[in-house]
Amino acid sequence: AVAARVDSLLAKMTVAEKIGQLNQLDYVNASDDAILRGDVGAFLNLADPVEINRVQHLALDRTRMHIPLLLGFDVINGYRTLFPISLAQAATWDPALVEAMHATIAQETAAVGINWTFAPMLDIARDPRWGRIVEGSGEDPYLASRMAVAKIQGLQGPQLGAPGKILACVKHFAGYGAPPGGRDYDSVYLPEVQLQNVYLPPFRAAVEAGAGSVMSAYMSLNDVPASGNAALLRGVLRDQWGFRGFVVSDSWAIHTMRSEGYVENLDQAALRALKAGENMDMGSQTYLKFLPEHVANHDVSLRELDDAVRPILRIKVLMGLFEHPYVDASKTEATLTDPAHRAQARHAASETAVLLRNEDNTLPIAPSIHSIAVIGPLADTPAALMGSWPAKAKKSETLSLLSAIRERAGAAVQILYEPGVPIGREPQAELNPDTITPRPYNSDPPAPDSPIAKAVATSLKADLTLLILGEDASMNGEYASRASIDLPGRQEEMMQAVTLAARKAGKPVALVLVNGRPLNITWASTHVPSILEVWQPGTEGGHAVADLLFGDANPGGKLPLTWPRSTGQIPIYYAHNATKVNQEAADFKSFYWDEPTTPLYPFGFGLSYTTFTLRDLKLNTSEIQSGGSLEATVVVENKGSRPGDEVVQLYTHQRSGTAVRPVRELKGFERVTLQPGESKTVAFTIGPRQLQFWSPATRAWGVEPDDFDLWVGDSSRATLHETFKVTAPVKIAAGQNG
Ligand code: IFM
Repeated sequence: AVAARVDSLLAKMTVAEKIGQLNQLDYVNASDDAILRGDVGAFLNLADPVEINRVQHLALDRTRMHIPLLLGFDVINGYRTLFPISLAQAATWDPALVEAMHATIAQETAAVGINWTFAPMLDIARDPRWGRIVEGSGEDPYLASRMAVAKIQGLQGPQLGAPGKILACVKHFAGYGAPPGGRDYDSVYLPEVQLQNVYLPPFRAAVEAGAGSVMSAYMSLNDVPASGNAALLRGVLRDQWGFRGFVVSDSWAIHTMRSEGYVENLDQAALRALKAGENMDMGSQTYLKFLPEHVANHDVSLRELDDAVRPILRIKVLMGLFEHPYVDASKTEATLTDPAHRAQARHAASETAVLLRNEDNTLPIAPSIHSIAVIGPLADTPAALMGSWPAKAKKSETLSLLSAIRERAGAAVQILYEPGVPIGREPQAELNPDTITPRPYNSDPPAPDSPIAKAVATSLKADLTLLILGEDASMNGEYASRASIDLPGRQEEMMQAVTLAARKAGKPVALVLVNGRPLNITWASTHVPSILEVWQPGTEGGHAVADLLFGDANPGGKLPLTWPRSTGQIPIYYAHNATKVNQEAADFKSFYWDEPTTPLYPFGFGLSYTTFTLRDLKLNTSEIQSGGSLEATVVVENKGSRPGDEVVQLYTHQRSGTAVRPVRELKGFERVTLQPGESKTVAFTIGPRQLQFWSPATRAWGVEPDDFDLWVGDSSRATLHETFKVTAPVKIAAGQNG
């Protein structure tokens, strides 16, 4: 019935009306005339419910074809209620929680009349210099795939058109997360083996979960711009994976194929993008201007045009937009300010925190602490908690960490505050290479009235110091790469001065990190007794961090990426291949003169205020026969005196095969909550879905008969070990997840 309805629409549409459906117009360039002419299929950046209803009425009541509009907006980690940024969400290792967050995100967005978000971002990223690492789920394809499915289900619901749900758009297809040097938009080169095994799986999982739209990336992959990449947009997405939604370009990315040197003019850009399988042109109006001529010349056949329009109309029909295009604007504000959303955001933010160090149980703050020095440029800055896509969240509704700590501490605990050194240069100001001078290392004691001296003096007046350091939100996100992962500005110097003085005076110090990428905290990892990573935790981040610091909540998050010791170690990730071991000369191994080769913290790592043990790893069989699976069970127990969460993680390794396989790969995980003394048996299934890989020898997905290792533990350094065998190969048809 859907196909028939779409075909009947297509049969009545003019060429111009069809091309109009391929055009997504930025609302800043909108005019009623354009809508009435049928030149607009979708808008971008319109977020006012009354105006949304008005433009929908124009499209539905006053155009010839009465086709509703798609209204797209970047609702990335929340609309009015901001949840923690995506990288932090991955640190929960809790897909059910992430799905629930996205259900609320969808509800708020739908309450505005926006029916389409440009999320989730599924780019695997292994270089924290890249600013957009904050928008993804980290380095691992399995964790990212689980997060992708959770997000699609939360945003779209069981099927498109469910009430309170919106259309998801998975982005940026494909390889955008691997620019050299972390430089955003730079050309990416990825061998097929990496593309298949690392970068594509989250997209494939999202398509299988029913994602209705895909955004192609900005940059070129292996010298072909993503907007013109037929092998990806047609070959992989449609032919192999059976995707039936539509593809939208990134903003102006059809147009920029000219500046990238792929086409000589915009006329050719329109032609090549359409032929490659790009359905919708975001922002640039290149299709609108140049496709009519191409259709008239028969460079683009009517059939090709219909094929481009069909998926867009199909999604509009499936979303029920023809029947329910309007929003009840009288209810919008009540939905956006629903206190339940704030409570959920507070809980979510506390679940994302990762405790990296906790010597002497410095945290949670003991009742014997009567004064706290809160120090750092990020202590009293709500904007830093909101992330780089704050949508329509309000700074005035976001409590800073300082205010939340004050609120929780109450009258009995004195709070002293000193911002200390500023974060650094003005956000986004271009550095001028002619005037930049390196800052000399300064070992002199700070001048008495300097920000660092003030920070030290304040720290010494208190029983405990909380250093709140990291990055401003504008240092993360799009075109926000960094050449170094050091703490920006003079924060390192201040941290060292404060810590050394406080420790000399016998006082505890804790570092609270607010950031969107791993930072160089190698000195802190041996000198600052406690380190709590809270990321950019969103609207309720202040309350959530106070909950964690005072022990009302217990950190249980785990790192979704490998944490480097320094910029020079980048890229560093756990699922690398084994290197050679020379039997005669053990020295011949991969090493640095000036840095260990191991990371500061491994993927999957995170502590708790309680302790857990894992024991009794058992496999129900040591052989997997043709296409079968095995079950691994393990017992996890809370050995401490507080309730807490542990994330039980399972890794496998194929010992040999048609290609070298990574030393270990995540293949299962479960976050469990345990009361003191409580234990639980966690079970994992390992079968073709987990064991398949894309082999460069066969150029296909499959499971190979071989010997495998299996580990279970609390990080990628898991030590409980078993082995098993796969006795027969399994071929996986392209597009199937096993
Ligand atoms: O959704 C974004 C994308 O991630 C980057 N370029 C602009 C798009 C729309 O705002």
